[in-house]
Amino acid sequence: MRSRGAEVGGNRNSGEDGGATRRLFFALWPEAPVREAIRARRRALGRLSRKRVPGHNLHLTLLFLGNQPAVRVDAILEAAATVRGSEFMLRLDRFGHFARARVVWLGGEAPVAGSALAASLAAAMEGLGLIFEHRPWRPHVTLFRGVTRRPALPAPAPVDWRAARFSLVESLPSRPYQVLRSWPLD
Ligand code: 2AM
Repeated sequence: MRSRGAEVGGNRNSGEDGGATRRLFFALWPEAPVREAIRARRRALGRLSRKRVPGHNLHLTLLFLGNQPAVRVDAILEAAATVRGSEFMLRLDRFGHFARARVVWLGGEAPVAGSALAASLAAAMEGLGLIFEHRPWRPHVTLFRGVTRRPALPAPAPVDWRAARFSLVESLPSRPYQVLRSWPLD
């Protein structure tokens, strides 16, 4: 298996059938005050690795789709528009380390409405016949990549985030993540 770190950045490359693909994921995209709060918590950690996620890319993934046929993007947008969910509060109150992915993150408990939203998105995308990895939703914002050993991680002051919308985001090589579209929660 390729390391997750090596996959970061994505590309508009060719699928198995030679068609163009786009690297996509659904995410909660923070408004400026929450983004600033996440950056402030991160500053307390110092320089854990050379691969600090750029401030403008900080986000919380709901569902990772990976490389999908470019011709399906319109269908993905249409299906996402049918997904209903309720607004919810997310409290980011802990730092953590995923050893395999070698990332340090800021995250928290999964609110029921957030897990329901992630599940509804997965069901909608499955309904389109898309192929993607199924993983339980673990709400986290990746702060640093390339962290091989778990560092000492203090307890952060919690960041309270009102999730009022979700977004489809594209990962392009050497470019900031691009929010393609966002949809409001009820
Ligand atoms: P991560 O921050 O924990 O690496 C874009 O890559 C987003 O999709 C990131 O938030 C990333 O999570 C998430 N993601 C989930 N599964 C992934 C995978 N197999 N490869 C790359 N990114 C993945």
